[in-house]
Amino acid sequence: MWRFAHLSDPHLASDRDGVWNNRFLCTMMPEVMACLRRDLALLRPDFILATGDIASTQTRAAMLEAQEMMDSLGFPYYPMGGNHDFVLEDSRKWFLEAFAKHLPAPQTYYSFCHKNLRFIALDAWWLWQDGTVSKVSEASVAKGLEKTLAGARWVVPPEQLTWLDSELAKQTDVPTAIAVHYPAVPIPQRLHRPAFKNGGCLQNGDLLVEILHRHKQVKAIFSGHVHINFIEDINGIVQVVTGALPEYPVEYRDVQVFDDRMEVYTLGLSDTAFAKQSLIAGKEWTKGDPQDRRKTIQF
Ligand SMILES: [Fe+2]
Ligand SMILES: [Fe+2]
Repeated sequence: MWRFAHLSDPHLASDRDGVWNNRFLCTMMPEVMACLRRDLALLRPDFILATGDIASTQTRAAMLEAQEMMDSLGFPYYPMGGNHDFVLEDSRKWFLEAFAKHLPAPQTYYSFCHKNLRFIALDAWWLWQDGTVSKVSEASVAKGLEKTLAGARWVVPPEQLTWLDSELAKQTDVPTAIAVHYPAVPIPQRLHRPAFKNGGCLQNGDLLVEILHRHKQVKAIFSGHVHINFIEDINGIVQVVTGALPEYPVEYRDVQVFDDRMEVYTLGLSDTAFAKQSLIAGKEWTKGDPQDRRKTIQF
């Protein structure tokens, strides 16, 4: 057995606190990362999969600061961009400046194999109101990004879907996991609450899933973005969505990989004060139901 850790939405290098569904506390992240470093040192994952919203503010300095904090965890990691990372014309340049040394190639979407598992990480683009698919956000959406996702939509661009399809056709005998910031499917109805904040999912998630279903070796999709834990089986492909580190329940996934399966466990930090500080009474549901917290994925 070997293991990797899946964490999402650390929103590093930000002095902003606010409220999403629970208190969203970016200012506690230096202490959260220090605690996570100690906890991971005991868990000893082979690497960390970090599914986007790595840096919360859109500057080169923030991206480099986020990289230092990710480096401080002390394990190899595979980062990808989210809607907070990839907003401006220069965002991907800054991302690669910071993280290229951690990637198999200096690209924002990439594939790699680790032992008996293959990963393909995607970089979703913005879908504008007028239907344009762009690397950058519309100015009106970018302006409000710290407070609202109104008008924000994302798709995996067509050229990446073509690349994905051909990558999957190249190597059919190795169990494969996809990693992308935005979930391919919506938050399941069972986790909906009145007036809850819903970050949404990929606008072309159905098309992505249709392509993935053509390749029987694809077993899972790892995502973040919605700041809620959920796990949904999409006809044999398991969507694992992990909450945000600055927000209750302040958890990550311990994924144990065996010859014939992956086992997904959900872990909180050893210091439970961060989760308590973020929780708004009555909003414990963002940690998911039991089925959103533990799953066996057969190869
Ligand atoms: Fe996001
Ligand atoms: Fe996020």
